[in-house]
Parts: sequence; structure tokens; C-alpha cells
Amino acid sequence: MTDTVETPPTPFGRNPRHFGIDPSDPWPDDVPMDQDDTHWRYEGDPKGARKAERRIAAAWTVTMLASVGLAVVYVDGANNVLAGLCWGLAFGGLGVGMLLWARDLMPGHDVIASRGHHNVSSEADRVAVAESLGRGLDPMARRPFLFKMLGAVGGVFGIAIAFPIASLGPRPHRNLYKTAWGKGVRAVTQDGTPVKPSDLPYNGILTVFPETNIHDALAPTLLINLGNLDNETPPERVGWNIPIDGKTGIIAVSKICTHAGCPASLYNVVTHQLVCPCHYSTFDVLQICKPIFGPAPRGLPQLPLAVDAQGYIVSQADYSSAGGGPVGPGFWNRG
Ligand code: FES
Repeated sequence: MTDTVETPPTPFGRNPRHFGIDPSDPWPDDVPMDQDDTHWRYEGDPKGARKAERRIAAAWTVTMLASVGLAVVYVDGANNVLAGLCWGLAFGGLGVGMLLWARDLMPGHDVIASRGHHNVSSEADRVAVAESLGRGLDPMARRPFLFKMLGAVGGVFGIAIAFPIASLGPRPHRNLYKTAWGKGVRAVTQDGTPVKPSDLPYNGILTVFPETNIHDALAPTLLINLGNLDNETPPERVGWNIPIDGKTGIIAVSKICTHAGCPASLYNVVTHQLVCPCHYSTFDVLQICKPIFGPAPRGLPQLPLAVDAQGYIVSQADYSSAGGGPVGPGFWNRG
């Protein structure tokens, strides 16, 4: 005959082994809550309690002064070191005050209960918890000074932490949708030299900028000579490349990775893939830079190209939704 152990239900099912409990072990008894062992550090010592209140008030005064300092630092140009110091003092003072209140002026006692052998606490335990919480409110209510002080700290600190919103800078409006590229803008190298199609050998890759503003952070663009390789061109982008000998020739794509904005410029001439060195997003150039690996959520936008009367490479227009959307990272994918 085999002994069977009656396994009580648990929050995780009926098999206590799943969370490391051997059902053959006897369940330990709960240690009942000790209703009488509730005390606080300065119980029966009003002088000590007043001193404790003053210590807490001092900690929160530090918070208020640091909050005012934080506001001043931001108005004065947001020195990072000073702002960090103020943040540290503000949060530190708040935390120290709360810890002192809990340690010195709030009742406390140890409660030990076994776990796992019942889903719901016994009625007696629940009543004891409610009573314990009630007993905690009482001493708090006897400290109106600390409550008022806490309200003041919340107000001053709340106003101060609104100041960093100024760090977000001016609203971008439509600026993130525009670059310096546009109709007839020449592509130039970093030193301002305009580029002709013949400057790019087969498989050549070159970073170019709009002649009108080579410092435009959104404008860096890659010219890639694909020679006679087939490129999957959607109908709306036909005529965006500069054909060479009637073949695909040169295409232009944004150099800014659509994941987090690193320069995606490691070109593998064998696989015709562009790799971003930051997190290894990989773009298939023969599929107009569609992402095929890594975290980039969308392809590199394509810039429509043409050749001007002097034979230099120019853009037909700025980057647009037809070419894969604005340049840059995931901001555009948040809907
Ligand atoms: S920035 Fe290019 S993969 Fe992350």
C-alpha cells in the first residue's frame, strides 16, 4: 500500500514541486502576527519625536532648496554638473526624510508567514493586516507639520521638475521632413567639388552633400554605381537613377540609417549590401536598400537624380514619401 500525500491547491496549480516545495514535508505553521509588539523608535519620548521631526524637516528643506536651485540652473543655461547636483540633492533629501519618518515615527513589527499552502489568507490574518495598517495611519495623522511640509516639498519639487521640459528645445514643425536637396541642387563632395557620373567607377560609392548647404545634418547621401545590375525599381521611382550605357547606373540613397541614425556606409561590392556599423542593419541595394537584417524598420530613402546641362549630378527634388519617406531613424515609424 502506498502512502499518498494530499496536495493542497496552490496559486500555481496542484503540483507544489513546480516551485520547489516537497509535499511530503510538513507545512510549517504560520507565525501569528504579534498584535502587541507594535512600537516606534520615539514612542513615549515626545522630545525625541520632535527632534526626529526636525531632522525630517531639514532633509526636506534640502529638497526644496535643491529644487529652487534646479530651476535657477535651468533658467541660467542648464549647466549639466550643477543640474545633476541639484537633482541628487532633491531626490536624496526627499528619500532621507521619508526613511527617517518610517524609521523613527512609524510603528513597526516583524510579521512572518509561511507561503504556498493556501490561496487566501485566513480571516484572522486579514483582520490583523487591516488593524496593522490602521495603527500606522494614527501616528501619521499626529504629525500635521510633516504632512504640510511634505505638501510644500511636493509643490516646489513639482514646479522645479517642469523646467527640464525647456531642454527639449523648439518644436521641429516640418523641419524633420525637409533637407537641403531640391530641384537642380548639385551633389558635391565634402570639399564642395561637384560630381559627374564619370567620377564613379562601377561599384563605386561616394558620399555627397547638397551644394546649397553641405552642413545639413539630414542630407548626407550615398551615390552608388550599380553598372548594369538589375535594380528593383517601383513604378513611381522610374527615372530616379542616372543610367550608364542604358543600364541601371547610379542611384542615390540616404546615408542615415533608419534605425538610430548612424551612417550606413559599409558597402559589400560582392553581395551589394550596405551595412550600418552601429547595430548591423543590412540593406539590399539591389532592392533599393530594403532592410534584410537587423533592427532598421524601413529602407534607406532614395533621392531622385538627374544630370544638369554642365554634366554634373543634381537632385530632381528633395526626399519624399515616394522615395521611402523622410530620412532618419524610427521617429517616422511611430504613426
Ligand atoms: S543605427 Fe544603424 S543599425 Fe542601428
